[in-house]
Amino acid sequence: MTASLDTIAARVRVCTQCELHRMRTNAVPGNGNPNAEVMFIGEGPGWHEDRQGLPFVGAAGQFLNEMLQSIGLSRDEVFITNIVKCRPPGNRDPLPDEIAACSAYLDAQIAAIKPKVIVTLGRFSMARWFPNERISRIHGQPRRFGDVVVVPMYHPAAALHQSSLRATIEADMAKLPQILEEARREAAAEDAPPPPQQMRLF
Ligand code: URA
Ligand code: SF4
Repeated sequence: MTASLDTIAARVRVCTQCELHRMRTNAVPGNGNPNAEVMFIGEGPGWHEDRQGLPFVGAAGQFLNEMLQSIGLSRDEVFITNIVKCRPPGNRDPLPDEIAACSAYLDAQIAAIKPKVIVTLGRFSMARWFPNERISRIHGQPRRFGDVVVVPMYHPAAALHQSSLRATIEADMAKLPQILEEARREAAAEDAPPPPQQMRLF
């Protein structure tokens, strides 16, 4: 049985599995379409996200919204969450034990949503699928892991104020519709019944 997204979110809101729970205003489970084909995974809530209990609502979120719009996707169609659900104080990097403590929630969300494509934003979510890779080398390159295609991208907060990275993430994002189309085709081919056996009449 997979837990519903609401059940997962309810558990996240009262979670005390790591130290990050002590300083949060609100945990940020993530939000969006429970049947999303595309899931975005960031790093962790920032100040605004902690206040509102919603992911990517600050400046980085505004930039993400603009990029989504430019490729014809809305926030309502996708699902957005983070590798840790509570804000690291002062926006410091999440620690390995915090990421480990929080990972079961992300596992459960992925199992519930079954996205066709996961976009990792920044190196912490990237490291879950590409532990020894460098983002400068593999950004924008889709790789299949079983039923899901994972595309690492730069973090929009990093890209927002750095023009070369900004052009890079925009170019990577522009490839997403085609990556999704290909993932849909592969999923449809998997689901198709085997071709009928030729009937032998004689
Ligand atoms: N940065 C993140 O990684 N996640 C958010 O939700 C907001 C900013
Ligand atoms: Fe729980 Fe994750 Fe928040 Fe840590 S960051 S308290 S594991 S929900």
